[in-house]
Amino acid sequence: MLSAEITKVVSETITAKTAHSPHVATLEEYKKLHASSIDDPESFFRRGYLNASVNCVDRWALKHPEQESDEPGQHVHISYGDMLKQVCMLANVLKSFGVKKGDIVAIYLPMVPEAVYAMLACARIGAIHSFVFAGFSAEALRDRISDANCALVITADQGCRGGKRTPLKKITDKAVAECPSVKNVLVLHRPYCPPEIMYAEDPLFILYMSGSTGKPKGVLHTTAGHLLGAALTADVGWITGHSYTVWGPLVIGSTTLVFESILTYPNPGRYWQMVETHKLTQFYTAPTAIRALRRPGDKHITSHDLNSLRVLGSVGEPINPEAWHWYNDVIGNGKCPIVDTYWQTEAGSIMISPLPGAVLTKPGSATVPFFGFEPKLLDPTTDKELEAKKGESIEGVLYMKTPWPSMARTIYGDHKRYLETYMALYPGYYITGDGAEKDSDDYIWIKGRVDDVINVSGHRLSTAEIESALIAHPRVAESTVIGMSDDVTGQAIFAYVVLKDDSAHAPVAYIHQDDASHADLVKKLSHDLVIQVRSHIGPFASPKRVVFVPYLPKTRSGKIMRRILRKIANGEVGASSDEEIGKLGDLSTLADPSIVATLIRKVHNL
Ligand code: WT7
Repeated sequence: MLSAEITKVVSETITAKTAHSPHVATLEEYKKLHASSIDDPESFFRRGYLNASVNCVDRWALKHPEQESDEPGQHVHISYGDMLKQVCMLANVLKSFGVKKGDIVAIYLPMVPEAVYAMLACARIGAIHSFVFAGFSAEALRDRISDANCALVITADQGCRGGKRTPLKKITDKAVAECPSVKNVLVLHRPYCPPEIMYAEDPLFILYMSGSTGKPKGVLHTTAGHLLGAALTADVGWITGHSYTVWGPLVIGSTTLVFESILTYPNPGRYWQMVETHKLTQFYTAPTAIRALRRPGDKHITSHDLNSLRVLGSVGEPINPEAWHWYNDVIGNGKCPIVDTYWQTEAGSIMISPLPGAVLTKPGSATVPFFGFEPKLLDPTTDKELEAKKGESIEGVLYMKTPWPSMARTIYGDHKRYLETYMALYPGYYITGDGAEKDSDDYIWIKGRVDDVINVSGHRLSTAEIESALIAHPRVAESTVIGMSDDVTGQAIFAYVVLKDDSAHAPVAYIHQDDASHADLVKKLSHDLVIQVRSHIGPFASPKRVVFVPYLPKTRSGKIMRRILRKIANGEVGASSDEEIGKLGDLSTLADPSIVATLIRKVHNL
């Protein structure tokens, strides 16, 4: 299934004891290999029949049954041999409940070994897993279960993160009460389970994510393509996200670490303690975590031995140079290549990234395309492909020339939406939704989303989903949610809220008087709205700021001018003087331009 030679080259390059003796030593060599992945993808990426759980477990269980996968905290060590038993047991349980090839199983578990067994057990019998992040609320879980018509849900009694307990079973009970498709609860059995033979294109899993409209999208990935993508990239650490902690590292037979707690519990040295205890070689995290880890001071780091580290990865958002240098100097001690990996849930594996040792890095740039990817920049107004003149840089919307092995094949139950979202904008090309610059060295710099998606600590959130949660509150008439930049989380949620005029005195005028009881009312209402969003979506979607405004800036045709709200929320306009308002650009399409000064006053508490 894998092009063995390429897998070997890539994994040995990345895991080379030092970055000084890589297998792909130069950018020239890398470019040659990359060109063959574009020119002759059929022989670069082969296909066939397989079973993902056999590729990830049996192969290694036979070869070195004692090798460990680590689960820290209580330091549970799991060998591949043990893992095979666990996976088989659970796979048999699923079968005994009638789960078969092609069925969808919802997994609502924290980062525990059982989460890994559950994913592999599904793969073993050809079922598709839909992993629902354990931070999601009952409503969010319900929507995801019913969209995919799941007949079985795997969950835990409770999750435990940073000393806090989440009653996952209770939440699941609440969710499944409204899901008639769900029929079963689990029991574990022991014997060996023969793997289902799967075709390369059979689905492996769906993973729900927020789109720019409210309805969650179940992005569907296939068996061989996903494994191949993950295998080629897994050595830069465990691939991000719940699914990628599993497939990539296991398919190449390496050791992975599953971590249930949070990075600051019981103290900010938690990660570094783990690096020291488990002699971790690859460490992969998001810039938001890097910034949070940098805050408490270097004393939490220097007390630990980080010499085992060889490669440091970053993913999820552009990494700012301060964080990059700190990561490089303090964590990597100047000797670990920083691998800034750009990709997305739909891509299934890394799209743009340096291959350590072969590609020199520039802080803040994800550098050059990975095997199988051919990025193109298009002009956002004319949709024309941009061509750089020698020595010049270009900036536009980032597209990929399709296809590549690990790309999502559909949005579950809505193939039309898949085609419209990713393929229709420029036929023959896949749109990433990100803006990017290609500099004069052909290095790519990701600039962030060009659609209405907010990225909070690496969680992709749709403005529409949060707005609908806010509007569900009985006092809210309308709301617009914006991403404001935040030192730690990258972006944070800023909500503009218009209240209903449902009392004798307009509540807006009413809550803006300054006596204390009205200030209290504003506070209480903001608090209620935050709770509202937490219960509809999850705590990570909580607005950081709620500002009540009399109405929203709209064009005469009724379209909300988000650009104005974005600039004001991000402090780009400091006062309501004409000169400051001028910074907002052309306001001539606004139905009532006087709203701008009001918005500035509200946001700046003037
Ligand atoms: C979006 C995808 C799959 C990784 C976790 C997030 C942003 C991702 C980078 C990077 C700049 C990045 C993009 C992308 N993004 N990696 N290295 N540099 N931006 O997955 O939730 O599907 O989000 O995250 O905006 O489109 P996701």
